[in-house]
Amino acid sequence: MDKLVIEGGVSLNGPIRVSGSKNAALPILLACILPEGPVCLHNVPRLRDIHTTLKLLDILGCETSFEGNTVCSEVKDLKIEAPYDLVKTMRASVLCLGPLLALKGEAKVALPGGCAIGARPVDLHLTAFEQMGATFDLDSGYIHGKCDKLKGAHIHFDFPTVGGTENVLMAASFAEGETIIENAAREPEVVDLANFLIACGAKISGHGTSIITVQGVPSLKGSNYKVMPDRIEAGTYMVAAAMTDGELLIQDCPFQELESVVYKLRKMGVSLEEEEGGVRVRRANGLLSGVDITTQPYPGFPTDMQAQLMTLMCLANGAGTIEEKIFENRFMHVQELVRMGANIKLKGRTAMIRGVERMTGAPVMASDLRASASLVVAGLAAEGRTDVQRIYHLDRGYEKLEDKLSAVGAKVWREKE
Ligand code: UD1
Repeated sequence: MDKLVIEGGVSLNGPIRVSGSKNAALPILLACILPEGPVCLHNVPRLRDIHTTLKLLDILGCETSFEGNTVCSEVKDLKIEAPYDLVKTMRASVLCLGPLLALKGEAKVALPGGCAIGARPVDLHLTAFEQMGATFDLDSGYIHGKCDKLKGAHIHFDFPTVGGTENVLMAASFAEGETIIENAAREPEVVDLANFLIACGAKISGHGTSIITVQGVPSLKGSNYKVMPDRIEAGTYMVAAAMTDGELLIQDCPFQELESVVYKLRKMGVSLEEEEGGVRVRRANGLLSGVDITTQPYPGFPTDMQAQLMTLMCLANGAGTIEEKIFENRFMHVQELVRMGANIKLKGRTAMIRGVERMTGAPVMASDLRASASLVVAGLAAEGRTDVQRIYHLDRGYEKLEDKLSAVGAKVWREKE
């Protein structure tokens, strides 16, 4: 197993480029099951979750290639089963349920287990498909879904689930008649998926709002599509610049999509300016102050940036709070940050952070993707050496992280644990 070693206390300076979005690429790759003919996707990040998804596409009967950051895929002989070995390593595998039900009228997808950040059920996905005419059995740990032909339906999500909206969007594109999704997720990655489906011939409107309308079409055609840049990666670099009191020019930055994060960072005393070539990030006048944050569905503050902002608050003047409203149990970075000198108290789903003058390096353990990112950012600013163990979490979501950070001055390298 690899770990990341960081000699902290170095300011990061220079240009840093954001890769394609993992959370947009995953559903778009699974949507490649739907069109006839080849699909080519550009700006696909080379990450573990993407390789897992390509393996799943292979098993489902697609022929795929991955060169540079371009994936090409074509359906040959579509199968209906997503095995547990893959699903257990990547929960997003459940997103093949919608396309398979729509195309084959049957799907067997291993039920994703709990994960480090909570139970994360898929009940909202299943209820929506039931409304579209599917029935489900639980068979030896597999969700076994069947339907004659999926029919358009009026779906109202109790919660604007990202994965649920994406799953239904894919299925509805190919279902019979009209589907209306109310209380749909408005995340930019949902919009990117909708735009991809539209490029393949789907009839979708309202994506990016909470009511999406889809007119099913009898077939979709392969197309070329460029995946959006990763807003969470970009946000993580914003925090890294402020944390190390450096100045980064973030290239390919989806600035509009980061509005809630930018708002809080500015309140903390971070200067973010859009210019030709990117977004320039540095501290406005040297000092940072604490803020209060509540995670919300988009356009609210993203849960995937919660751990990184908490880390930045560890070095701010005064106190701030973070309330986590999307996932239970997403505070596992707290104990590790405390080991590095942070002052954080937890009460239920709220963390109270009091700024400290400095943090010190320590061996720490990554527990999930965004927690790992926060520990790396903490290590960059801390005095001395930080060893971030279980770095495989980071490899799921950050392309060439240590290369990119080294290029802007960080002392960071990979070692065997
Ligand atoms: C996606 C993102 C993840 C991000 C999250 C919230 C991907 C691959 N992952 O996850 O990085 O943190 O959105 O922005 O895009 N829920 C249910 N029942 C359901 C579905 C969800 O109770 O059927 C609950 C979940 O347990 C969770 C909350 O709703 O507490 C949010 O889940 P959801 O919006 O579906 O997130 P994901 O698609 O899993």
